[in-house]
Amino acid sequence: MDIRENVSLKTYNTFGVDARARYFVEVHSTEELQEVVRQWPGERPFILGGGSNLLLTGEINRLVIRNCITGMAITGKSDDKAWVSAGGGENWHRFVLWCLEQGLGGIENLSLIPGTAGAAPIQNIGAYGRELKEVFHRLEAVELSTGALHSFGREACRFGYRDSIFKRELKGLYGITRVTLELSTANHQIDTSYGAIRQTLEEQGISAPTIQDVSRAVIAIRSAKLPDPSVLGNSGSFFKNPEVSTSQLQRLKTQHPEIPHYPVNAHVAKIPAGWLIEQAGWKGQRVGDAGCYEKQALVLVNYGRASGRDIYELAERIQQSVEEKFGIRLEMEVNVI
Ligand code: EPU
Repeated sequence: MDIRENVSLKTYNTFGVDARARYFVEVHSTEELQEVVRQWPGERPFILGGGSNLLLTGEINRLVIRNCITGMAITGKSDDKAWVSAGGGENWHRFVLWCLEQGLGGIENLSLIPGTAGAAPIQNIGAYGRELKEVFHRLEAVELSTGALHSFGREACRFGYRDSIFKRELKGLYGITRVTLELSTANHQIDTSYGAIRQTLEEQGISAPTIQDVSRAVIAIRSAKLPDPSVLGNSGSFFKNPEVSTSQLQRLKTQHPEIPHYPVNAHVAKIPAGWLIEQAGWKGQRVGDAGCYEKQALVLVNYGRASGRDIYELAERIQQSVEEKFGIRLEMEVNVI
């Protein structure tokens, strides 16, 4: 075990925040992870994936284990389905591109999402009309208190909107070592329901898109709207899109007739947090080196030397002013440590 002390995590979180880990180790296999957690005498370790949904507000006093378990494989096939698995530390987008190369469909709408395959189920990543849970088959995870390897099927993960059991009851208790998805080998369910995808494909004159076309369209949309973390520190959407009751929506509409919304079910609607934040006057604003992104208000950015605290304080001010203006409390989507 090559455990290092007092290691900067600046290059291991996409906000580019310079926080330190008291102890730090990288693991490259399930067995290595099991060995580390069984031998570590201190407090339960913290598992770091791609660091793309993480806001570090201070030093982590525990052992930080960076999940570097990579590898991708097709593990089974039926008539029109294939099961593919990726190591928990595998880069998610690399995995998407590899699946596309194999002609496998189901995650093309989730192209270019930063982070690792192992972190994808934790927040049930979603974009452009699709969510991971729709193609999720199972995952393997090491229990950090014992080193035991467990398997979780779709039901056990209790997926919700940007949510799973690993953000709730089991938060911080497991290290995800392998994720298996069930993808289509033929008759792909192309989903272009999201307006921006349709528009991009139309502009390109594509009327019968392939899974590769959809992926390219998603990559173009994301690249145009969302800042590249290697250029401008960020962690994607900082808040969740809030859900309101239909009666609350009616009340909001009387004051703000133009409020965008979409139904979740007969009684609940979702409102884009980006719109609420923009209306509260925050889009493009900057407080020191922490800012609200000029092209997408739901994204908070680090212009260089912002600390995790600076970004957190900006997030709190945004929360407060949205609540004052609309009576809606925004919930942070990012994992604040
Ligand atoms: N909007 C504004 N101003 C803004 C931003 C958005 O008015 O500055 C309004 C517009 O009405 C726009 C609507 O919000 O039509 C939706 O915006 P967008 O399509 O950019 O999507 P989003 O709701 O802001 C969600 C996800 C993204 C995902 C996109 C596309 C959440 C928290 N975020 O964002 O996920 O890529 O939809 O599906 O659900 C992430 O989780 O990190 C992430 C980037």
